[in-house]
Amino acid sequence: MKAKDLLEKLMKEKSLTKEEFVFLLEHREEVREEAADMARKLCDEHYGKAVYPRGLVEFTNYCKNNCYYCGIRAGNKNVTRYRLSKEEILSSCENGYQLGYRSFVLQGGEDPYYTIEIMVDIVASIRKKYPDCAITLSLGELDYERYKRLYEAGADRYLLRHETALEEHYRMLHPDSMSLAYRKKCLYDLKDIGYQVGTGFMVGSPYQTLENLAEDLLFIKELDPHMVGIGPFIPHHDTQFKDEAAGTAELTTFLLSLLRIMKPTLLLPATTALGTIAPDGREQGILAGGNVLMPNLSPVMVRKDYALYDNKICTGEEAAECFGCLSRRMERIGCHLEFSRGDYRE
Ligand code: 5AD
Ligand code: FES
Repeated sequence: MKAKDLLEKLMKEKSLTKEEFVFLLEHREEVREEAADMARKLCDEHYGKAVYPRGLVEFTNYCKNNCYYCGIRAGNKNVTRYRLSKEEILSSCENGYQLGYRSFVLQGGEDPYYTIEIMVDIVASIRKKYPDCAITLSLGELDYERYKRLYEAGADRYLLRHETALEEHYRMLHPDSMSLAYRKKCLYDLKDIGYQVGTGFMVGSPYQTLENLAEDLLFIKELDPHMVGIGPFIPHHDTQFKDEAAGTAELTTFLLSLLRIMKPTLLLPATTALGTIAPDGREQGILAGGNVLMPNLSPVMVRKDYALYDNKICTGEEAAECFGCLSRRMERIGCHLEFSRGDYRE
């Protein structure tokens, strides 16, 4: 078996066996450039040099969960908690709209304060004010009925990372109150309702093996989502994983290339975590096959409090500054920000 042959096979058949994925990951150094070239070419064929910005509004850092890796987990008493009002959320969107954003992501911890009625009202208000914009939600696990009500209120897309596709590994990262089976069910529910769905995982999370990553790729193959968000794990000082090593940009970008090759039409962000682990991480992510960026639109006042991991970039910058910074960064690598809804293309 040769890594190069496996890459060719992936290109043709769009999947590999678990053992083949593990081998390819083990021998990635031999093929990383070739994989990135293939991935970038496929991306160009489907989306050209466009990179789609999504304006991210991190509207609450309260969370009822206790994922071991996450800085805003319920048990962390050192977090200054905040909630944005409907008016603050709408004014963050307005700020983004003026800059040119046509795609908004509302993301928060699992915060019961925002009842389904409150969320439906917020989504419906954004939908009414910005009929030309895509609305993406990232609110964690809900039930079918609630997901459906939010969809009917005008949400188009939903992001919910599965985090790791193997039960054993999931148990090492989450308390017993959480379940991988339920998370997977949520993802299938979301697809069934009609959302464009994004899942994803952390690269280099504690106890992760290459076999785990192969399982993640196979789960993604099976779910067949429209978007996949992956970024390196980065330790947070107030978690039990504070002394663990961070994931690498090198493995993250290789996985981005594999995902692009497996599903050429994917919407694939170069994440903020990737930009945090390497100064040119987001550029590397785009050059390896990514085509989405998710700059922050939250009020600068609260940004540093949405710290899932340490040293997160852009917590002091205004939305307009990130906008300018990212446009320049993309132009330098021969791409451009495209201010449309940036829908999934078949
Ligand atoms: N490092 C990197 N990513 C993290 N996330 C949560 N905590 C961390 C961390 N310490 C990711 C999870 C979650 C997403 C919103 O952020 O994958 O789904
Ligand atoms: Fe925020 Fe560069 S993207 S400062």
